[in-house]
Amino acid sequence: MSLDVEALRGSFQLVVERSPGVVHRFYEILFTRYPVVRPLFSRNSGANQEAMLTSALVAVLDHLEDGAWLTTQLSGMGGKHLTYGVEDHMYSWVGECLVAALQEAAGDAWSTRIEQAWLGAFGAISGLMLDGARAARAAEPA
Ligand code: HEM
Repeated sequence: MSLDVEALRGSFQLVVERSPGVVHRFYEILFTRYPVVRPLFSRNSGANQEAMLTSALVAVLDHLEDGAWLTTQLSGMGGKHLTYGVEDHMYSWVGECLVAALQEAAGDAWSTRIEQAWLGAFGAISGLMLDGARAARAAEPA
């Protein structure tokens, strides 16, 4: 996958410095725009969920050059998401709301290049997670 690593890492660092609550804000946007997903998030407290998503994003950003790691980790995570009741079409909702939260947090530092970088990265991440979900579905006993 071809990723704009510089734009991704630079913008994420800037966003976290400017707005440490960006992941919290992401969930607010997601639950406002797509309230149907809220009941899926029942196993963990909001704070736990925010910490898990933040560390997943940081881990992905740390491994952008490591295709084998990304494939293994993200397809495994996609399989697990099936057990949370996540459906394929929800990935684009999450991508849209993540980009909206990042844009809001970045303020005047946001640019078309950064937006394209995140859309590209999210598309790649979702693709690998969805491959994992498909493989997990195929492995289910009939
Ligand atoms: C960029 C794509 C995504 C990433 C990186 C991500 C990351 C994570 C992580 C790290 C967890 C913690 C448990 C685990 O490791 O499996 C988790 C749980 C969860 N995710 Fe995601 N996720 C993504 C997409 C989605 C989508 C599209 C949905 C649909 C609404 C979703 C809904 C959930 C739910 C419901 C849980 C379980 C919550 C709970 O334990 O209460 N995720 N996600």
